[in-house]
Amino acid sequence: MASMENSQTNSDPNTERPGPLRIGSVLVDPPVLMAPMAGFTNWAYRELVRRFGGCGLPATEMVCARGLVEMDHYGRGEPERLWGIRDEPRPLAVQIWDNDPDTLAEVARRVAHDYQASVVDLNFGCPARDISEKAESGSYLLDDPDRIGRIVARVVEACGRVPVTAKIRLGRSDDRLTAVDVAQAVEGAGGAAVTVHGRTARQQFSGVADWERIARIKSRLKRIPVVGNGDLETPKAVVDAFSRFGVDGVMIGRAALTRPWLFSRIEAALAGRVIGSEPSLKQQRDVLLGQLDLMVKRFGPRRGVVLMRVFACRLGAGRPGVRQFRVAICRATTVDEFVEIVRRRFPSER
Ligand SMILES: Cc1cc2nc3c(=O)[nH]c(=O)nc-3n(C[C@H](O)[C@H](O)[C@H](O)COP(=O)(O)O)c2cc1C
Repeated sequence: MASMENSQTNSDPNTERPGPLRIGSVLVDPPVLMAPMAGFTNWAYRELVRRFGGCGLPATEMVCARGLVEMDHYGRGEPERLWGIRDEPRPLAVQIWDNDPDTLAEVARRVAHDYQASVVDLNFGCPARDISEKAESGSYLLDDPDRIGRIVARVVEACGRVPVTAKIRLGRSDDRLTAVDVAQAVEGAGGAAVTVHGRTARQQFSGVADWERIARIKSRLKRIPVVGNGDLETPKAVVDAFSRFGVDGVMIGRAALTRPWLFSRIEAALAGRVIGSEPSLKQQRDVLLGQLDLMVKRFGPRRGVVLMRVFACRLGAGRPGVRQFRVAICRATTVDEFVEIVRRRFPSER
């Protein structure tokens, strides 16, 4: 990986530095949050990011509330996506999704009290068909701010002192930009913060995140903080997001899959410190093999390797030859094959 930002400060010394973010009783410091990402932000990834430092609030992948209730009912243990959450350090946000206030309230209460999550986050942004159109959840609910308000109110009641947040998009499509109404409904119902991904659901991940719109939502809320999300890839972009758009916090997703050490560099930039070098190829290799080890221990060699492919593809991006690497890694079925391909991509002598 090319060294993109070696030994520099990316912040303007005259820019006011953002203070810690308060989400209810939880202090998020620095005010830089991990985006929940299905298939990625599992315990192993959260631990990795914690080791590098700089993330104020790690998050789980989205957990299906109904699924948790059913697994419980049939005595099938607990969802894989809750791996590690009982014992890992806090703060930690656990994200859940559904459209039924009672189910969400029941699961949120358990997540808050039995699992002791620091924050319960409600997903109102997922554009995937299975969640949105089919399950009438996630971004599907953005068309109905009142319903979101009712859901949040029930969940807030169930969670007691544990803060409840909502993650939303700008609306379902360009002609249905409901985010201001939705954010106000979340605020009115007792939500503790709202995170806005600056795209519509229809956009999925195309185009660019609209930070002007995120800023407008911030200006329409009276009490609760707004966390901006979308396309932040460098420490400088984060520093600019705080100063230009007045958000209270930022959330980082895809860029920190390719570079899990990005949070620590952002933290340095926000504090006006010198940003260190990117990890060497050898260090990046160690990151990948360390993750492989954790995944294999948890899921066994076959599944562990399969689950690691997507993460390796992300981490392997950004240097020539990525296409061949991806093809090779996606064919790896054994731990030995996986390790060999990673060793070739991340040689120790450079
Ligand atoms: C692979 C992947 C999985 C995601 N899973 C979730 C999820 O479980 N819950 C959620 O609210 N958003 C999810 N998102 C959206 C991210 O949280 C985030 O809003 C989006 O990636 C934009 O931020 P970014 O530009 O920093 O990546 C996912 C995104 C990706 C790329």
